[in-house]
Amino acid sequence: MATLKEKRTCGQRCEDFGRFVWNSDNGTLMGRTPEKWVYISLYYAAFYVVMTSLFSLAIWVLMYTLDPYAPDYQDRLLSPGVMVWPDKYGEEHVEITYNSSDKHSWTKMSSCLDTFLKPYKDDKQTECDNCTKGTYFFQKHFTTPNNTKKSCSFPRSLLGPCSGLHDSTFGYNCTMPCLIIKMNRIIGFLPSSNNKSQIHVNCTVLSGKENVKKIEYYPDKGIMDRSYFPYYGNLAQPHYLNPLVAVRVDLVGKQQAKLQCRVVADKISYQNFHEPYEGKVDFTLTNLGNH
Ligand SMILES: *[C@@H]1O[C@H](CO)[C@@H](O)[C@H](O)[C@H]1NC(C)=O
Ligand SMILES: *[C@@H]1O[C@H](CO)[C@@H](O)[C@H](O)[C@H]1NC(C)=O
Ligand SMILES: *[C@@H]1O[C@H](CO)[C@@H](O)[C@H](O)[C@H]1NC(C)=O
Ligand SMILES: *[C@@H]1O[C@H](CO)[C@@H](O)[C@H](O)[C@H]1NC(C)=O
Ligand SMILES: *[C@@H]1O[C@H](CO)[C@@H](O)[C@H](O)[C@H]1NC(C)=O
Ligand SMILES: *[C@@H]1O[C@H](CO)[C@@H](O)[C@H](O)[C@H]1NC(C)=O
Repeated sequence: MATLKEKRTCGQRCEDFGRFVWNSDNGTLMGRTPEKWVYISLYYAAFYVVMTSLFSLAIWVLMYTLDPYAPDYQDRLLSPGVMVWPDKYGEEHVEITYNSSDKHSWTKMSSCLDTFLKPYKDDKQTECDNCTKGTYFFQKHFTTPNNTKKSCSFPRSLLGPCSGLHDSTFGYNCTMPCLIIKMNRIIGFLPSSNNKSQIHVNCTVLSGKENVKKIEYYPDKGIMDRSYFPYYGNLAQPHYLNPLVAVRVDLVGKQQAKLQCRVVADKISYQNFHEPYEGKVDFTLTNLGNH
């Protein structure tokens, strides 16, 4: 103990350190003879080679046993999330605000929708003759040459006046703006287990009822056809497009309302407190311009 507490000068410490680095008395470098250093280096080199090989082998076995067409893990997503476009959101809530009197404001909205709909261009999609409206499109086998499965086309013309084909403003230059509702994909998910009702989008006005004259849906009745389900994953269906529903809201009065759009089907839950976007999307729609 006494030696530990003993005060030493800086010079002595430096000398000690120097002796530690190279001790000429017994020929050690950092406490070991060069010969020992060679052995220890060889030992560690071999150790790391073995560890790396074991690790690589484990990864290889894991990759080899995984099915590339199935998701690696999918334990949490039991019910899909729902999103609304244009995605010009506010700070915390989804706030879709535009000014129909200001061209700069409404072109921002319409170009957002136009960009979103780019993949839905009619001539970009290959025709699939096996899609039967109203029934799930199950595909056991890979039928196309590249080991993929077919996807039903969703031409944007199905969105009628909200397709942007006839009205490039999507209604944002006036008081009937279009919104697009999309449900996220989940591999193998079937939204409904019975034939009693269609899978469809239903929007309700949460507040500002007096400011909404009517709500229109495209395709008709806001239906998401069954032939777009199930989704088999990006590798199996590289050309898959989510079915969409356009909602056209006729704003009157103060031109502000809070809406909730829900995808209705018996397998889609929407009351999960922790997942506010599960099965539904709430948003405020506001037109600042005068009409
Ligand atoms: C909407 O745009 C018009 C025309 O640019 C402008 O006069 C008006 O102040 C804008 N309204 C709001 C609330 O920003
Ligand atoms: C698609 O239809 C053709 C005949 O029209 C049939 O030969 C083929 O098996 C069908 N493919 C699938 C995946 O159902
Ligand atoms: C198959 O893949 C090749 C190269 O990726 C592509 O050029 C070809 O169009 C694909 N065929 C089909 C039917 O998708
Ligand atoms: C909005 O744009 C469409 C298509 O360009 C046009 O037919 C319509 O008259 C415009 N509405 C207003 C209020 O300017
Ligand atoms: C739903 O309808 C399709 C065809 O209309 C039929 O093949 C299927 O068995 C029906 N499913 C149920 C659960 O009734
Ligand atoms: C939409 O939901 C509301 C409230 O749940 C309901 O009253 C209405 O009938 C539904 N409309 C459609 C078309 O399903």
